[in-house]
Formats: sequence, structure tokens, C-alpha cells
Amino acid sequence: MSLHQDVHQKDQTEKLCGRSVRELIDRFGRRITYLRISVTDRCNLHCHYCMPAGRPTWFEREKLLSFEEIWRFVRVCSELGISKVRLTGGEPLLRSELPELVAMLRKIPGIREIAMTTNATLLARYAESLKIAGLDRLNVSLDSLRPERFARITQSDAFHQVWRGIETALSVGFAPLKLNVVVIKGINDDEVVDFARLTARYPFHVRFIEYMPIGANREDWERGKVVSCAEIRERIAREIPIKHAASDSEGKGPERTYAVCDGKGCIGFISPVSDEFCSACNRMRLTSDGKLRGCLMRNGELDIRDALRRGATDDELRELVLEAVARKPEKHTINSPDFEFSDFYTMNRLGG
Ligand code: 5AD
Ligand code: SF4
Repeated sequence: MSLHQDVHQKDQTEKLCGRSVRELIDRFGRRITYLRISVTDRCNLHCHYCMPAGRPTWFEREKLLSFEEIWRFVRVCSELGISKVRLTGGEPLLRSELPELVAMLRKIPGIREIAMTTNATLLARYAESLKIAGLDRLNVSLDSLRPERFARITQSDAFHQVWRGIETALSVGFAPLKLNVVVIKGINDDEVVDFARLTARYPFHVRFIEYMPIGANREDWERGKVVSCAEIRERIAREIPIKHAASDSEGKGPERTYAVCDGKGCIGFISPVSDEFCSACNRMRLTSDGKLRGCLMRNGELDIRDALRRGATDDELRELVLEAVARKPEKHTINSPDFEFSDFYTMNRLGG
């Protein structure tokens, strides 16, 4: 029996190799509607938890998918029920024509939401053209509000440039703007209240993320450096009143707990380590070298780039997507003794 037969077949209108598929539902009943695409592994920052130490090595240019290849794959996915895409990296804006890709994806009828995760270093230059191209949402990764500390974490003195990027994004209408903060004990955990306070003045949705073991930080990661979301929430609640409130994103993905302070923005928590949120997972990932992966933290990829380049038909591409969905694991295994780091797929290659 083929693995594909595990995928439910809901819509009877579209025939595919004798089967009808309009919705991707995996073996655990999760509906897959969201594709994250790493458009490049390159980054102009060097956060130690994301990229291996030392001089970075990048994929050669031809290993990355072209915009036409990405567009074609997203079109095929959209016919199977993918309605949201996120462009990530590395730093996606290092592909300088990125607004063009957004405009291309915007024209695919089934794609209802296009988002991007960026470090914001180049955002002042690109925010307006991204808005015009049709980008719906922006997430900015920012782990410190202190310029010297930012420099230590990222090995770059770009803090003010990042802040200008954030302000430009707000001014062209990217609000609420999500700020992703990876909290690491002894590195930036003393800033969680400062981050939360920002929401009084700015329409930010600040999301605190537990520090995860990804290949690049194999040497560094240890359980003692993880600050649980419960602890972060307590620390904030001691200083400012917060209350639980349902958000748009709650229940649709890994962001579980969600709290609002009185002010313009809100705060949220993503707890991959302390909490098993995988039962709500709705996503697949396309790595920067064109492999389709069902889980951020479990190995096993299907080669989409190779299929595209050897002239696969749309039906063949659809088969690969169905197979990846069928193989999607129930959950990550960070908390089990047989958890395996991937040396190859570091965060900048996977796209977070
Ligand atoms: N643990 C948690 N989050 C991480 N990110 C990158 N590496 C890690 C890690 N080891 C975050 C980035 C970005 C998102 C794509 O993933 O900060 O916001
Ligand atoms: Fe989904 Fe894997 Fe993340 Fe769990 S760990 S939410 S299965 S990508």
C-alpha cells in the first residue's frame, strides 16, 4: 500500500492519477495549509544559534530554486489546499528581487496569505515595494533591544539599521508587526519585560520562542539555557498586567498561549521545548536547496528541486507533496533520548 493512501481525499472534482485531492490531511488528521519557503541560506547576520560557528559556507547559486521554480511549486501546492506561504531564509531580502517573487505568488488564486520572516536589516529599503507587491505580513527576528548586546548575538552592528527597517515597515502599513524573540538564559532573558513593554507604544505582536536544539548550536544548546514560556510569562506578569485572550493565530499553529497587555500590541508564546504543540501543526517546509520537509526538527526530505529540473509534470509534483504529507511525523522528538540533530539542515537552510 502506498503511503499516499493515508492522505484523505476530500474533493471529488479534481482527478489526480485516478484519485481526487483538494485538501492535504495527514495520518494524524492535521490539515496542511501552510508552506514555509527558505529562499536562500545566506544571511548578513551570524546568530550563533542559527548558523554554525566559523566562516559560513553557502549553497552555490544554482542549488537555490529560481523564482519560476518556486512559483510553479507553490501553484501545484495551492491546488492541493495550501493557502498560506511564508518566505524565510537565511535572510530572504538578500535575494534583491524578492518583491518580484511576492508579486508572482500573489497571482496564484488559492494563495490567500503571503508572509515573510526577516532580520529587518534591509527592510528600510524594501518595505514599500514589498507592500506594493502584495506581502500581507511581516515577522522580524530580534533578540535584543540593546545595541551592544545585539552586536554580540548577531556579530553585526546593524541594530539601528534594523530599527529603521521596523519603523519603515510600520509606516507603510505592516501592522501588527510580529517580533520573534528567541529567549536564551544568560543571554537575553533579562529583556523579556522590556520587549513586552514595547507593545504599549507600538502595534507589535511580540512572540517569545523557546531556544530549540537545531544542528548549528549542537555544542551550545543545553536544557539549562532554555527559558520556558511559563517562566517568561510569570516574569512579565510580575511587572505588567497581562491577560489571556484568543488570537487569530491561536489553534492554527504552534503558537499556543497568547496574552494581551493594555496597549497597542500584544504578546504570545511559542514553546517547542516545554510543551508538545505538534498536534496543531499545519505546515510543511521547503528548504533553501529545494527539499520538502514535514517537520522542522525531524530529518527526511523529498527532492523537489531535482523533480523540477528533470521536467516533472504537475501530477508528479503533486505526488511528491502527497508523499511528504503522508510521511509527516506526528511530533518532534526533542524531549526523547533518540532525538537527532541534523548537521546539514541548520536553521538558515531550513528557514525556521
Ligand atoms: N531556537 C528557537 N528559535 C530559533 N530561530 C532560529 N534558530 C532558533 C533556535 N535554535 C528563530 C529565529 C527566527 C525564526 C525563523 O526562528 O529567530 O525568528
Ligand atoms: Fe510541526 Fe515539527 Fe514544528 Fe511540531 S516540531 S510543530 S511537527 S514542524
